[in-house]
Amino acid sequence: MTNILAVGNWKMNPVKKKDAENLAKDIKKVAQKYKKVTAVLCPPAPYADVVGGALGRVKNLALGAQDMSWQEKGSRTGHVSPLMLKDLGATYAIIGHSELRELGETDEVINKKIRTALLYGITPIVCIGERERDENGFYLGVIHKQIESALQGVLKKDFSSIIFAYEPIWAIGKSARDAMTPHDLYEMSLYIKKTIAGLSSKTIAMNMRVLYGGSVEGENAGALFEGGDVNGFLIGHASIVPSEFESVLENMTAALKRLEKKE
Ligand code: PGA
Repeated sequence: MTNILAVGNWKMNPVKKKDAENLAKDIKKVAQKYKKVTAVLCPPAPYADVVGGALGRVKNLALGAQDMSWQEKGSRTGHVSPLMLKDLGATYAIIGHSELRELGETDEVINKKIRTALLYGITPIVCIGERERDENGFYLGVIHKQIESALQGVLKKDFSSIIFAYEPIWAIGKSARDAMTPHDLYEMSLYIKKTIAGLSSKTIAMNMRVLYGGSVEGENAGALFEGGDVNGFLIGHASIVPSEFESVLENMTAALKRLEKKE
């Protein structure tokens, strides 16, 4: 397995530039010990510059954004342009996070952002996920629709540049015990890949990366990575505590070793 990611979504933390810089430096030290995993740090937009500077040029570290405009410049109050992100050296952007969907971001806007990101060579990390699970499996339809609309108008050759982050809303911001089980995650990874295959081909679907997000901590990272058939994680609260982030990286690396042995 290649291209394994631990994406840190710092959300609206920390609230001081110096703290953001120090957090980036601490995470840099930690991430350099686990070279098989690429750590992508997504700080709040005002700190992207200082965090990018602190990270420097290390192979398994990258800068990302928590959101991105679908326009490159102009009258868009509060938006962050892909050109600004590129200028700061950001190579990833989280798109369609449930916290933004909740504020009214539509599938259509998310699709525009994905296509813009691809145009500017920024890897979109597209969040999908159901609010709740029902016995009839209607939640699968929610996921299907989100994937279908995310990929609308995207050239099939570009599919592999998109990363889907499966983040069930009910599992976000809790603790490892409330997160998904590896078995349920495995089934969902399969469903996501099947859906993509239906829109393209099996080969394309198999080459796409799927992450899991929602209360990933050191405690559950190993089992979810080993049994969930994912290429890594989108990590919220555990990504702003260096020791917890290290525990995630350590457990992912150990799980990867076990998976490699099985191959
Ligand atoms: P969490 O957040 O890890 O704190 O659940 C994940 C996310 O919202 O991206």
